[in-house]
Order: sequence, then C-alpha cells, then structure tokens
Amino acid sequence: MKIVKSVCEVKEYVKELRRKEKNIGFVPTMGYLHAGHLSLVRESVRRCDYTVVSIFVNPTQFAPNEDFNKYPRNIQSDIEILEKEGVDLIFIPGDGEMYPEGYQTYVEVKNLQDRLCGGSRPNFFKGVCTIVLKLFNIVTPDISFFGQKDAQQVVILKKMVCDLNLDVKIEALPIIREKSGLALSSRNEYLDKKQKKAALCLSRSLIRAREMVETGEKNVALVLKSMKTEIESEPLARIDYIEIVDSESLQPVNQINDKMLIAVAVFINNVRLIDNIIV
Ligand code: PAF
Repeated sequence: MKIVKSVCEVKEYVKELRRKEKNIGFVPTMGYLHAGHLSLVRESVRRCDYTVVSIFVNPTQFAPNEDFNKYPRNIQSDIEILEKEGVDLIFIPGDGEMYPEGYQTYVEVKNLQDRLCGGSRPNFFKGVCTIVLKLFNIVTPDISFFGQKDAQQVVILKKMVCDLNLDVKIEALPIIREKSGLALSSRNEYLDKKQKKAALCLSRSLIRAREMVETGEKNVALVLKSMKTEIESEPLARIDYIEIVDSESLQPVNQINDKMLIAVAVFINNVRLIDNIIV
C-alpha cells in the first residue's frame, strides 16, 4: 500500500493505472475511520481494480465556530486499518497542498445546498463540493463511495457530477449502526455514555416515523409531530431540524409518498448529530 502526501504523486500513480486500463474506486474521508467508512472501502475493494482512500479534514467545510480543531484524528490507526482492507493508495494531503496560498475557487450547488444541514451550516456544502471536486480531479475515480448517513451530501454531489459532466459514478451505501440503533459517526467520539444513550432519540424518532408511514399514515404534519415528541422526551436533546422531503429535490413534501427522505439533526449537549431514512 502506498501512502502519499502530494497531488503530483497521486497523479503519477493514477496515470500508470490508466495506462494499464485499470478502474479506480475512491473513498474520500476525513479519517478517524469507523465501520461505516469500512463498508465503503470494502465495497470499493470488492468492485474495483484499485482503491484509493483520502484522509483530509477539510477546513473549508467547517464554520469558524465549529469543531475543525478538535475533530478526532488518528492517522496511524487509519493507515493500519486501510492496509488490512487491501487499499492500494492513501492520499493524506496537508492543508497547504489542497489550499495553497492565494486559493480562490469554490463550487456551489445552488438551492440544494441551502436546505436541511445547509440551513444551520451555511458554507458547509460549498466546502464539501469544492474539496470533493478537487479530489475527483486528482484521483479521477470511476466510482466514488459515500455513506447514506450524509444523505444531503450524496444528493448534492450527484447533482454536481451531473451538472459538471464529471465521469464518475457516485455510489451511496447504507447507514451502519451500532446494535443500539445509533448511526456510526466520528462525532460519536465526543459523547459520554449518558449522551450516547440520549442520542438514541434520533433513530427512535425515525423508527417511529417509518412505522407510521408503513401503517398507512399520509399526514406529514402528524408524522413530524410524533417524531418531535419522541426527540423532545429526551432532556439532553435540542432539535436542529426534523424534515420530510423529496429524496431528490430535497423540497418538503405535502403528503407521504414513496420517495421521501426523513431526516433529523439534533444537538446532544453541543454535539450535532444527523440521521435519516429513505421511505
Ligand atoms: O463525508 C465526509 O467525510 C466529508 O464531507 C468528505 C466527503 C470526505 C469531504 O470532506
């Protein structure tokens, strides 16, 4: 397994693979890998000739008041994990490699970026799209793998790929959960035992929504109300949003239908967690 830090080295490596007509799977990450990331890596290794993983905590997707500095990092352990998974190349650039002095170019997917998580994190998707496009240009993957936990990210990146005529397929893989139902996230690291228990209100609210939909409830307001009650029963929880939206346009739906995304963002103390289901 090769570990490289510079854009040039990745480009050289990729050029060689292209010469050999190999296809490339790519998993962009911010490191501190958990079973959710590993499901993406395994799928890439299974389906592609070569797998590239990037580890980069992208500063442009964090607002000044957010957790960029304390975002959990453990490069050594990430490298060991990826080696065992049969990854071919890890790209670990520094901030200056991705955003050299004088950097000025950003990518935005208008409208889709302003809703849901974009409402409370206004520059988040601009940062995500910019770094992902840069990484796509460097790695030139055939397929790139993302977790469905970041459902809005997946919708936005698919739109970016389509609008900018990029030759990469975005593949979204199911959310990986702890036995308790808690969706895996690097930010779970911030939670103590009590807070982790409190965080189960997210998945409970989604299970409640799914049950209502599956037993024929058509009234969106009633489903939202029931989810709100579930989350508010947890004293440590503060709702950022609960939304039922069309799974492609991300616009709120008036009536329950068969292609909806039900998504929640909730603060447990000051840790913002997200979760969702597609119904
Ligand atoms: O989902 C993430 O971990 C990040 O948003 C990504 C796609 C690696 C871009 O920094």
